[in-house]
Amino acid sequence: MLCSHAALALALAILNWQVTDCDSLLVPFVKYPGYMGSLSVTGGSVLFSPRGSDAFLTHRGPDVFLTQASDASQIMSYEIIGGDASCGTANVTGIANACGVHIHVGANCSDASTIGGHFWNKTLYSTDPWQSVMYKTVKGKAYATNVRIATGLTNQEVADRVVIIHDAAGARISCIPVSIGSPGGLVSSYLVSYPGYTGKLSVMGSLRFSPHGSDASQILSYKISGGDSSCGTANVTGIANACGVHIHVGTNCSDASTIGGHFWNKTLYSADPWQSVMYATVNGKASAADVTIATGLTNQEVADRVVIIHDATGARISCSQMYFFKQPP
Ligand SMILES: *[C@@H]1O[C@H](CO)[C@@H](O)[C@H](O)[C@H]1NC(C)=O
Ligand SMILES: *[C@@H]1O[C@H](CO)[C@@H](O)[C@H](O)[C@H]1NC(C)=O
Ligand SMILES: *[C@@H]1O[C@H](CO)[C@@H](O)[C@H](O)[C@H]1NC(C)=O
Ligand SMILES: *[C@@H]1O[C@H](CO)[C@@H](O)[C@H](O)[C@H]1NC(C)=O
Ligand SMILES: *[C@@H]1O[C@H](CO)[C@@H](O)[C@H](O)[C@H]1NC(C)=O
Ligand SMILES: *[C@@H]1O[C@H](CO)[C@@H](O)[C@H](O)[C@H]1NC(C)=O
Repeated sequence: MLCSHAALALALAILNWQVTDCDSLLVPFVKYPGYMGSLSVTGGSVLFSPRGSDAFLTHRGPDVFLTQASDASQIMSYEIIGGDASCGTANVTGIANACGVHIHVGANCSDASTIGGHFWNKTLYSTDPWQSVMYKTVKGKAYATNVRIATGLTNQEVADRVVIIHDAAGARISCIPVSIGSPGGLVSSYLVSYPGYTGKLSVMGSLRFSPHGSDASQILSYKISGGDSSCGTANVTGIANACGVHIHVGTNCSDASTIGGHFWNKTLYSADPWQSVMYATVNGKASAADVTIATGLTNQEVADRVVIIHDATGARISCSQMYFFKQPP
């Protein structure tokens, strides 16, 4: 089983999905129950973002952390290794589900008889929005970013279902349980250019902050691409904020004048815990898993702030907001 650090990081992008260890991270893709064919999706990840900038945390309560304003679509990004190599070139006209990547109604991958058909809001839409969602394999990999699927369901509503990968004949070859990240976990997958930033860097990716027990700390995992490629190799000694990934005090990314400095509990800690949090780019990507940052603040307290990514000169290149994982039932 492929299980490199890069793969680990890649899989960490599966924000709403349970990630436990390296293998299960990278391969939440398992063979479809009963599938006897030779295809084996050995790697990759799929990420669903709630749609639009309205998908941020809007309400918080003691029990239900998350109420998202949402237009009930999913935005899917994926990378699939080991899918059907003929997808993208084979003529699949008229072949139902050929090369599909779909959310199904089933709640787990253990029993084919419970996986059922495509999952969407049939009250709202009579046409199956998954029909057109297909992958194309190029040199053994298939990927796509930001495919919008109007399911009429929120990410919360699809969070306990499964994703099925099909081959070019429409057979189900792989199954991925979509499960929920740790309660109170925060994710951010909308990295936009920092307001006013005119440089060439354009960061994409996702970050996840898990709560650190009941501690007032965050545990950061991320995978980004498009950051400063010199981060990790450049000598940034003494350069404030160089290559940093930090939560700032601002509450939105629309106005640079409101983003302010690093966010932590200054009553509790005099030293800035963000200073040492830096990314290192390798082959265009940067990732990390489980970096603990003792901010003296709970995830609830940082939830409405922004995450800023810096280049090797310390300039702010990217900004994103966060929202909560669903509280598991
Ligand atoms: C693809 O398959 C369909 C259905 O079998 C057929 O009508 C069509 O002519 C084929 N297209 C090509 C380019 O071979
Ligand atoms: C799998 O999901 C089905 C319903 O979709 C449920 O009946 C069954 O108990 C689940 N199996 C496991 C192992 O969770
Ligand atoms: C499906 O859409 C209908 C009509 O907008 C809505 O009332 C219902 O809550 C939706 N169902 C789900 C499960 O979201
Ligand atoms: C890195 O930069 C610092 C400050 O400019 C300097 O003191 C140090 O010698 C440099 N280190 C290397 C390995 O070049
Ligand atoms: C952005 O946040 C600032 C305060 O941090 C606030 O004054 C401003 O209204 C917010 N802008 C938007 C578009 O929400
Ligand atoms: C910061 O830490 C102090 C001392 O532990 C605590 O009283 C306060 O509530 C904390 N502030 C926030 C915003 O969590």
